[in-house]
Amino acid sequence: MSAPLLELSGVTREHRQGDVVVQALRGVDLSVTPGELVAVMGPSGSGKSTLLQLAGGLDSPTAGRVCVEGRDLAGLSPAQVAAVRRRSVGYVFQDLNLLPSLTAVENVALPLELDGVRGGVARRTARAALDEVGVGALAGRFPDEMSGGQQQRVAIARALVGPRRLLLADEPTGALDSTTGEEVLRVLRARCEAGAAGVLVTHEARHAAWADRVVFLRDGVIVDQSGPVAPAESLLAAGGA
Ligand SMILES: Nc1ncnc2c1ncn2[C@@H]1O[C@H](COP(=O)(O)OP(=O)(O)OP(=O)(O)O)[C@@H](O)[C@H]1O
Ligand SMILES: [Mg+2]
Repeated sequence: MSAPLLELSGVTREHRQGDVVVQALRGVDLSVTPGELVAVMGPSGSGKSTLLQLAGGLDSPTAGRVCVEGRDLAGLSPAQVAAVRRRSVGYVFQDLNLLPSLTAVENVALPLELDGVRGGVARRTARAALDEVGVGALAGRFPDEMSGGQQQRVAIARALVGPRRLLLADEPTGALDSTTGEEVLRVLRARCEAGAAGVLVTHEARHAAWADRVVFLRDGVIVDQSGPVAPAESLLAAGGA
């Protein structure tokens, strides 16, 4: 088996608000190897977005270790973490985060340009990524000139653009109709088949069925893991229903 692209060991993340400590994650262990797509499910507030933010180097654990491509993020300088994020990590945010003053193709080209790819090449690569998710014709539009589902596809193109090997998607199909949602998952799945490692946060069992494994979070703890076809009874048991 190949070395994990993402490895979380004993990861805890606490938020302090005055005297109150919220434990968003508690002692989470998770490895994702190239070729693998892992779905993360769990109720609202269970720590799914926190897990993804830690995996993507957008947040740091209170305890435990997060390694991306074998490198412990805690051992890297902020500039090195930023470089890992640009080169290795594709992130689809729960709230999209498209820049309103940039067109679709400019939004998608941005991470490449930040990484030193020349303008023309970055745009052509961005255009291909937009085509891959079916919105190539909207390349020149600004986010507020597109529907929610179209914006979501642009955000996915931005995460997939270039040779990123760790793909992190937080509810990437939220604003999409079911056909478009499936298309996006097919693209994500294909990237994993081609050697990427993916983590997909989803509320829908039907979407989790695209994954090799399903990890179920509750109150910041992994309470269950299952194979590709999530046995409903074990998820129900884990959910305490
Ligand atoms: N910056 C913060 N300060 C305080 N508490 C936080 C902060 N960020 C997250 N939390 C808390 O951590 C817990 C996990 O939040 P998280 O966003 O990871 O949940 P989630 O599973 O993604 O939920 P949802 O399905 O609603 O997106 C929640 O109780 C949340 O209130
Ligand atoms: Mg969330």
